[in-house]
Amino acid sequence: MADGIKYLGHSAFYIKSGEYGILIDPWFLHNPNVTFDINREKITHIILTHGHSDHFGDTVNIAKATNAKVIAIFETAIFCQKMGLNSVGVGMGSAIPTDFGSVRFLPATHTNSLPNGEYGGLAASVLLDVDGVKIFHAGDTGLTREFELIGKLYRPYYAMLPIGGHYTMGVEEAIIAAEMLNAEEYIPMHYNTFDVIAADPIEFKTALEEMGKTCHIMPANEVLTF
Ligand code: NI
Ligand code: MN
Repeated sequence: MADGIKYLGHSAFYIKSGEYGILIDPWFLHNPNVTFDINREKITHIILTHGHSDHFGDTVNIAKATNAKVIAIFETAIFCQKMGLNSVGVGMGSAIPTDFGSVRFLPATHTNSLPNGEYGGLAASVLLDVDGVKIFHAGDTGLTREFELIGKLYRPYYAMLPIGGHYTMGVEEAIIAAEMLNAEEYIPMHYNTFDVIAADPIEFKTALEEMGKTCHIMPANEVLTF
């Protein structure tokens, strides 16, 4: 795959930059609509926003198969270490340097439990600097004023926002979040996977275009090249 962002359904993305391949919230191996061969693609890092099963997903299998480094909030990273994975824990608000650039963990208003039911530390959103390209992945979150500060301070270029409601903000709140973030290009996520998170991405896209922003409604497997 050329350098860019590939959508793997729900909140899962694969970001490729040169010799590095980064998976965010890799829950996709169950999904017959997703074509992504973990043994053929380069996977060097896995970034987790939190430990819920629709985000933690296939982390253990993928990390064991590829030896990718798992980066997560402290308690979630400790769990990964106990599972035998190469994992680094990060504190909320902090960034750590990585081979591809850096990753910063930022507040999300959400809960975080691990696959075994234990508490996983704070749920997070993440800001990646991938060779100078700033990508914000909101994880699961409600609407919070944090978006305003994140936008002002870090100026993300791409932003993935949940729009499905029920577990996260819905379209109406995501539009306000986008306004506060002031990124340039948006990708809606975490919608229409289950009945309870049904949402219309066109409504989101239309509102963003009225703000002069770009919105990519990505079907699974679509790639956005940098
Ligand atoms: Ni969640
Ligand atoms: Mn979720």
